[in-house]
Amino acid sequence: MNLKDLFSKKKSDPHCSVVIVAAGSGERMGADKVFLDLAGVPVLARTLKPFQDSECVDEIVIVTRTEKLSEVSDLCSSNGFTKVSKVVSGGATRTESALAGVSEVGPKTKLIAIHDAARPFITKELISSLVSCADQFMAAVPAVRCADTIRIVDDEGVITGDTDRNYAVQIQTPQIFDADIIKGALSYAVTHERSLTDDSSAAKMMGVKVHTVSGDPDNIKLTVPDDLIKGAAILKSRGES
Ligand code: C5P
Repeated sequence: MNLKDLFSKKKSDPHCSVVIVAAGSGERMGADKVFLDLAGVPVLARTLKPFQDSECVDEIVIVTRTEKLSEVSDLCSSNGFTKVSKVVSGGATRTESALAGVSEVGPKTKLIAIHDAARPFITKELISSLVSCADQFMAAVPAVRCADTIRIVDDEGVITGDTDRNYAVQIQTPQIFDADIIKGALSYAVTHERSLTDDSSAAKMMGVKVHTVSGDPDNIKLTVPDDLIKGAAILKSRGES
């Protein structure tokens, strides 16, 4: 391979900003989960570290509840999270919080990654495979295969629909998108009061083809108290407790 070919093969380096959504109330956990202590380290600090350390990430914007703005800023300075450019207030829904974050990224941003603060087991490896995929296809999300049979039920719990398990996946975060696409999609979703549980639903609603990469079964979202037991086991398996 000559030098010209080598340069044309150089991996592109899109400016990637990360929005961490941390403005939930933690109702199902019974506490604000992002400040819970996981083996001596707050959940939010664990979540931020792989993004701070990733060479694919240029900037981090954190979205939190208004009363937590200064606590979050203090956590960032005391842990040396120098990529955090802004800490801003979120909204009443996750989609509003995501929109508040994507509206604050810097002007050089080409890709925006949106990540649940409540997923502290994200790895640098998963971040970089998602950035490569989003750089190529404009929209990339991590997905893991379903082990159980998946059925649709009605309000009474009666099964009303089937899914083919071979094509069913569970979607995680971070979800990474072309910056203009996700800004437009989230604005549309908020303006039209669409109730969405993730950001790829907003992109898909606008006709964007969302690609999946292999997610990580350990990249769980801390939702209910039992998840803390799973979290402790993950830390132990990584030799971090
Ligand atoms: O409620 P759920 O578990 O889906 O929340 C996922 C993430 O979205 C959490 O990190 C939570 O802090 C965040 N969130 C938010 N603003 C809301 C609701 C949830 O930033 N209004």
